[in-house]
Amino acid sequence: MKNTSTAALLLAAAAFTTATTLNAETKAAKPVHGEYKDWLTLSVSHRLDKHLVRSILGNDVAIKAARAGNTNPWPDGTIFAKVGWKEKTHPNWPQAVVPGEFAGAEAMVKDSKKFAETGGWGFGHWEGDKLVMNDKEKSATCFACHTPMKDNDYVYTVPVLQ
Ligand code: HEC
Repeated sequence: MKNTSTAALLLAAAAFTTATTLNAETKAAKPVHGEYKDWLTLSVSHRLDKHLVRSILGNDVAIKAARAGNTNPWPDGTIFAKVGWKEKTHPNWPQAVVPGEFAGAEAMVKDSKKFAETGGWGFGHWEGDKLVMNDKEKSATCFACHTPMKDNDYVYTVPVLQ
């Protein structure tokens, strides 16, 4: 009986140490996020070439549109956040690819008048909790690579969790 409880205590202590280490790791890498942290998930992606995992989130307008199937075109006011982390394998389960270091958050903002030159989409990114829109030159680069998706309102993501 005594042995069993000692073993249980040791196990509990080991679990506590692991949890503390994991927490410390998460805290050390914790960046400041924008308002997208309260948005719902539309989809996820894993870029094999860039070794990044991503969460594609939508604001209220985006989620409402996705639920209604009203996505071609997406309505004005839609905002997507593509939040990326470097891929890493889980320290306790190497077959699992999980988010590592935060790699940045990009945005697409739908305003068919304001961003008429780039398919109605403004392209930007979050600097900490602030959404910063790209200048015309940089947006043109983003837009060029989204042009193959013209027939889908320039959007690659297929909402799967609306
Ligand atoms: C080299 C091509 C390429 C460039 C350049 C590019 N994108 Fe994308 N973008 C993609 C692809 C492919 C996806 C879908 C897969 C993924 O998650 O990467 C995507 C997805 C997105 C999404 C999620 C919505 C969607 O269309 O699926 C956002 C937001 C986004 N990109 C923003 C940007 C911004 C902002 C820029 C410019 C700073 C940019 N992209 C430049 C290829 C590109």
